[in-house]
Amino acid sequence: MTEPADTSILLETQRLVLRRFTESDAPLLFELDSDPEVMRFVGKFGLPSVEAYRERIRDVWMPYSAHPARGFWAVIEKASREFIGWIVLRPAPDYRFATQAGWTRASDLELGYRLRRSAWGRGLATEVAKELVCSALEDPAVTCVVAAALITNRASIRVLEKAGLRYVRDFAIPGFGDPSVMYAICRTGCQPP
Ligand SMILES: CC(C)(COP(=O)(O)OP(=O)(O)OC[C@H]1O[C@@H](n2cnc3c(N)ncnc32)[C@H](O)[C@@H]1OP(=O)(O)O)[C@@H](O)C(=O)NCCC(=O)NCCS
Repeated sequence: MTEPADTSILLETQRLVLRRFTESDAPLLFELDSDPEVMRFVGKFGLPSVEAYRERIRDVWMPYSAHPARGFWAVIEKASREFIGWIVLRPAPDYRFATQAGWTRASDLELGYRLRRSAWGRGLATEVAKELVCSALEDPAVTCVVAAALITNRASIRVLEKAGLRYVRDFAIPGFGDPSVMYAICRTGCQPP
């Protein structure tokens, strides 16, 4: 008899595994967002307590598991088995600034990520973003993978470029002095939103 597939794991790369979040991950998220360097280009969107992260996981992140390949995924380093951050792939209209970005098509998926500072600079975000973008575009229901970053967030933009996304346009989001840039990669024959 074959083992049932583990639906909590989305994919593995050479060094990383992506797994679903559970409420018990809340302290890890609280700690991640407590680093001002991690939040430098993200804004003041950290939550005030571990309990608030528990609620976010339960009420906002876990419902994405209704689709096997959508939502927020914990990034685990295989060698150390440590949590190093998260990556998200979700319908683009769910992005909090989707209106400003002009993202209205649910067939477009937003890519985003946030890693602990101790994991930066080793190509890990690129490794996992590439893999996720490739697998997303294999789904004929997906039109484009889109992403947004502040124009000053050079590391994030570089990850997008290396994952195959290309610059589409600038747009402004409330509360940020710098413009944001939109990047996208689309299935053949599809146009970015
Ligand atoms: C963005 C982030 C995920 C990148 O993670 P990472 O694992 O360090 O990324 P990688 O190592 O895969 O690649 C980073 C690339 O950016 C480059 N880079 C890093 N800092 C840079 C900077 N200040 N200026 C220009 N390029 C920079 C690196 O040199 C590398 O490119 P290269 O391989 O061509 O040399 C990480 O910095 C992070 O979590 N930041 C905080 C959260 C965040 O800003 N998320 C994105 C919001 S849009």
